[in-house]
Amino acid sequence: MPKETIAIASDHAGFELKAQLKQELVAMGFEPLDLGTESASSVDYPDFADRLAGALKDGKAKRGVLVCGTGIGISMAANRHRHVRAAVVHDVTSARLTRLHNNANVLCLGARLTGMDVAKDCLKVFLTTDFEGGRHENRVAKLG
Ligand code: RB5
Repeated sequence: MPKETIAIASDHAGFELKAQLKQELVAMGFEPLDLGTESASSVDYPDFADRLAGALKDGKAKRGVLVCGTGIGISMAANRHRHVRAAVVHDVTSARLTRLHNNANVLCLGARLTGMDVAKDCLKVFLTTDFEGGRHENRVAKLG
């Protein structure tokens, strides 16, 4: 079975965490599609949110991960694209609930706020939890 591709991108503040999460994705059996940034030099987070949204729209991946300093700016930028449901998450319960209830397709993490172990746990739960559907279907449909 081919490995599922997971798109991943960050700004400079999220560059180190992105590198760690890429390794984690490989360890979990996924294929990371790294859309930058490529170094810790200062960049603008909307550009990388846009890249990831484009990759999802083009069918290069169904799900993605975005990292900036707080996770907030990059999630705001990502959610300007109607096919993106990006959730900023700081804990495993939020990671689970945003899959179960919101069918989030992009996980956003804040490298300056969330420790490495928690971030990795959030990633695992996000990627292994299915949308609950049912009463949430109609609500999620209204987002798009
Ligand atoms: C960059 O300094 C920082 O503003 C950015 O990574 C992010 O936290 C914005 O929301």
